Amino acid sequence: MTILRTITEARRALDPIRPRATIGLVPTMGALHDGHTALFRAARRVCSPVVATIFVNPPQFGDPADLAAYPREESRDAATVAEAGVDYLFTPSAAEMYPRGYDTWIDIGGVALGFEGASRPGHFRGVATVCLKLFSIVQPRIAFFGQKDAQQVAVVRQLVRDMNLPIELRVVPTVRDRDGLALSSRNARLSRDERLQALALPRALEAGLAARRAGRDPVAAARQELKSVDIDYVAEADLDGRPTLVVAARVGRTRLIDNVPLDEPDDGPGI
Ligand code: PAJ
Repeated sequence: MTILRTITEARRALDPIRPRATIGLVPTMGALHDGHTALFRAARRVCSPVVATIFVNPPQFGDPADLAAYPREESRDAATVAEAGVDYLFTPSAAEMYPRGYDTWIDIGGVALGFEGASRPGHFRGVATVCLKLFSIVQPRIAFFGQKDAQQVAVVRQLVRDMNLPIELRVVPTVRDRDGLALSSRNARLSRDERLQALALPRALEAGLAARRAGRDPVAAARQELKSVDIDYVAEADLDGRPTLVVAARVGRTRLIDNVPLDEPDDGPGI
């Protein structure tokens, strides 16, 4: 696996091979877990080469303390990426991506306004901007994103459509721990007690899905299961063309999000 640290290095490596390659891109912020690995493997099945990016993108963090606390595990991550069969790891510095004088931002409407967009002002502006920059540097044929961040998928889909980008998006189902908790780099911050409390999120989604299948209100059923956590929102949203039960809640100092598509077939992955 080749590590690329600058945009020039990335262009030098990828430009010559682009005409005969199907470049797959998996953007990440590192602190990699099996959810990320599922994306790398999905990319490897259909793309060659696979380019992973690790970049903790400052503009998508509203709170400087959240940015500072974001886990960084560079050498472990490089090993994980190599083991998953990724060909190139692009991991630029913040100064490389946003040099002095940088001043262009992507503002997306409708899909970016509610839920995470309302709770984290400027978040999707940062996400859309960095995704467009990564798309433009790597120029992938296919880019891979996780269902875990369902609203992010909807936002990136809008970006690709509106900016006429020749990129196909593939969405990989949420990878969960055995107890149902969706894998997230933020789970590392949970104490043992908090981790138990956090299980209210997958339980709520499961209850919501069961309620929908029984013809009852999924939001009310989910809310019942969320009594022990500090709910930010629980709602049914139309995301990326699918009715989706979305939840965000705070457990201690950690804010967690999760979702389940409500049109999942009975034998689908579910929770
Ligand atoms: P990050 O949180 O590192 O996630 C990178 C990708 O992994 C995203 O597409 C996310 O949805 C996916 N992912 C995370 N946890 C997952 C899980 N449990 N199962 C399946 N997929 C999972 O999302 C970002 O980084 C950033 O916003 C980024 C798109 C890289 C832009 O900075």
